[in-house]
Amino acid sequence: MDYKRILELMIEHLDEGIIVVDSELEILYFNEPSTNITGFDSDKAIGKNLFQVFPNISKDNSTFWNVINTGEPIIEHVQRYINCEGRDVTIVTSTIPITNGNRVYGAMEIFKDVTQVMELSEKVIMLQETLYNRGGKEKVFLANGTQYTLGDIIGESLPMKELKSKICKVAFSNSPIFVYGETGTGKELVVQSIHNLSHRRDKPFIAQNCGALPESLLESILFGTVQGSFTGAKDKEGLFELADGSTLFLDEINSMSLDLQSKLLRVIEDGVIRRVGDIRTKLVDVRIIAATNIEPKKLLEEGKLREDLYYRLNVIYLHIPPLKERREDIPILADHFIKYSNRRMGKSVKGLDKEVIEYFYNNDWPGNVRELQNIIESAMNFVEGEYITMKDLQSYNLLNMDYSKECFEESIVGEDLNLKEAVEEYEKKLIKIALEKANNNCAKAARALKIPKQTLHGKIKRYGL
Ligand SMILES: Nc1ncnc2c1ncn2[C@@H]1O[C@H](COP(=O)(O)OP(=O)(O)OP(=O)(O)O)[C@@H](O)[C@H]1O
Ligand SMILES: [Mg+2]
Repeated sequence: MDYKRILELMIEHLDEGIIVVDSELEILYFNEPSTNITGFDSDKAIGKNLFQVFPNISKDNSTFWNVINTGEPIIEHVQRYINCEGRDVTIVTSTIPITNGNRVYGAMEIFKDVTQVMELSEKVIMLQETLYNRGGKEKVFLANGTQYTLGDIIGESLPMKELKSKICKVAFSNSPIFVYGETGTGKELVVQSIHNLSHRRDKPFIAQNCGALPESLLESILFGTVQGSFTGAKDKEGLFELADGSTLFLDEINSMSLDLQSKLLRVIEDGVIRRVGDIRTKLVDVRIIAATNIEPKKLLEEGKLREDLYYRLNVIYLHIPPLKERREDIPILADHFIKYSNRRMGKSVKGLDKEVIEYFYNNDWPGNVRELQNIIESAMNFVEGEYITMKDLQSYNLLNMDYSKECFEESIVGEDLNLKEAVEEYEKKLIKIALEKANNNCAKAARALKIPKQTLHGKIKRYGL
């Protein structure tokens, strides 16, 4: 096999541009994506000097020049420039020296076009601003850009009652809050409710998912930039300045690099921010709420969350329990979602039938309230009578049983059975495995199989298991 050819093919089909220069900055390599991003043809670039091809790059701002002179890589650097087609382009570059011992022979730059991501984030900020300035004419969203208030949090179980009472208490302080809840447990609801109860509610609620942006962009989005801080950077306020006097919700805080986490810690401690590239600082009054859907203990152990930041944010800790730990909320939530769908679909479904109630009660709900909401929305499309039945749930994927593969391996195909017998045989095997895995605990096995306990009892009897 021709490995060189394979490598070439791989490089030409990446989304990233790759440019290689020698120590004199002569371009040695310029892949196809580089052409798409910069607008230059590789045959016009290769063999030329870098500064000749990119006249707006000079020794002062060239990452290549810097890396060749220091021998140190520059990772995830943001640059903004007008390309030769007149397009305003934002790229993130990583520049790596090519060395042998102490000698630097050249450098290679890998870069991606993040113009669209950047434009989208800017649009989001702009929309948040206009939404706020519109003064409440929007129906779905409140004037401050939120959607939920305390009344939207459904749940009468003890942990949910406690959570709601805690929300009311902490809303009025300025201390940072750390929210932990598995996916779909309602973190967005909780955080927005806090903002809407607080004295900050007339100011726009600013939210940023830390996992949604590349690291270097996240930093400039959070702290803002000054003109010249990196090639083409504009004077721009960041989310901290936008959230002055308000609440800043940092979702998926664990996606932030440890380096940025330490910068965040400094802001929280000092109450001042500095735009990227600026020497001036600015005092801001921002209440930080951070959230994760992974247990903080695990994040600390794995080194994904700085301990000092965690303890600083954790002045108030809110845990939203998973749905399986508050099963008594399931009927109330189901009823709420059915009523909502009734209104939207012009139906008059009264509720869940007995079998569905039992199935819902025994399910583990890995997707939590969101999963319950989705399954009901799906069923509402099929329901014909007054109550949702197991039949109406069929189109929703209920068969995510991890042991089904094992059964296929001990294939029954080829044994002299007709289809009905084969299906029964297969069902028998599934039940046997579920019972084994559940140490013969019927309730547990029924939950794993996602069928009501009575149905399982019936089948055990029928198959003589
Ligand atoms: N207690 C609740 N009462 C009513 N609706 C809820 C409740 N909890 C969650 N929901 C609904 O479930 C969906 C998911 O909630 P939300 O977006 O707040 O979850 P999340 O915890 O932020 O999840 P993720 O970690 O995936 O972002 C939303 O549509 C929300 O309306
Ligand atoms: Mg969320």
